[in-house]
Amino acid sequence: MNTLFLRALSGEVIERTPLWIMRQAGRYLPEYRAVREKVDFLTLCQTPDLAAEVTLQPLRRFNLDAAILFSDIMTPLLSAGVQLEFNPGPVVQAPLRSINDVEKLRVLEPDEIAPFVNSTIKILRRELKVPLIGFAGAPLTLAAYLVQGKGSKDFSVLRSFLYQEPQAAHLLFDKLAVLTARYLQAQIDAGAQAVQLFDSWAGILSEEMYRKFALPAVQKIFANLAVPRIYFAQDAAHLWPAIKSIDVEGYGIDWRTSLNEARNIFGNQKTLQGNLDPAILKANKHVIRHHADNILQTMQKTSHIFNLGHGIEPDAPVEHVSYLVECVHEISKQIRQG
Ligand code: CP3
Repeated sequence: MNTLFLRALSGEVIERTPLWIMRQAGRYLPEYRAVREKVDFLTLCQTPDLAAEVTLQPLRRFNLDAAILFSDIMTPLLSAGVQLEFNPGPVVQAPLRSINDVEKLRVLEPDEIAPFVNSTIKILRRELKVPLIGFAGAPLTLAAYLVQGKGSKDFSVLRSFLYQEPQAAHLLFDKLAVLTARYLQAQIDAGAQAVQLFDSWAGILSEEMYRKFALPAVQKIFANLAVPRIYFAQDAAHLWPAIKSIDVEGYGIDWRTSLNEARNIFGNQKTLQGNLDPAILKANKHVIRHHADNILQTMQKTSHIFNLGHGIEPDAPVEHVSYLVECVHEISKQIRQG
């Protein structure tokens, strides 16, 4: 069992920097596209054998130090009664706009939320030689899709909802916090060895609104989970003073922000994860090596997990991903073992 990833999350500076890649199972892999030619995305998430198979695909190609469950942040919402499509991002059939809409949202018991995910995790734990990361979407990011209805640059429908319907918004965040805490606990019970909470759209809020709605819900979710926890907020440097109060082992740092500045805010005891710009994978190998080296040098004396600063893009060349993984292994061994 390769435990580098879990050891890094305990705050250790270990002999080689562990790495995994956000969205490591996905459309940039031809073998993933081959599976997707046969089944739609939701069927794939809900079929444990297939979901386990695509989770393993990137690990067969690259020397990665963690696996992440194949699913989507939106799948637990199916059990709450939300009608959902993917095109390619989530599209909610009836967006929530009033307290009435929010009241109809069901919050089920842990084992009823997404039972297919628990089966996928059990299959994976039998196969894997690296730790398995479970995950969920943070309430703000789920609310972004639930209220706006689909992806958006700035989610202005959600933001006006938060201002105009604070009572409905608080009820929504409370329900999503309970649902998400139960969902992650079920993943841990099934065998997930760490969890990551994705707050991809955290950056759309001011610090004041983030503190009012998003932060308390995130704190509730993390309060009672007994495995290492990572919180990834995107485009969120202005929120770091607030995010610092979240009790987790690791913080995911997005590509727009500086690892040095994050280190200054979060302190030396926390593990930082990130933050290569996903677009660098489409540049040439010289550029890839240079930037990987930069990140590893910056973080050489503190606890770090190498990752991209957001999900890998569908047009990232597989050969460049493979090269990045080799570079990180080679350079981090050089730096940390002298
Ligand atoms: O390998 C992994 O990281 C695990 C699988 C995973 C997916 N989505 C699979 C997926 C994870 C961890 C997610 C999280 C997710 N989903 C987030 C948070 C992370 C982030 O990227 O910000 C968000 C915001 C979503 C919502 C979502 N689902 C979007 C915006 C999209 C479209 C993405 C795109 O690149 O066009 C999806 C669909 C989705 N989720 C795909 C995959 C592999 C593509 C679906 C397909 O096969 O057609």
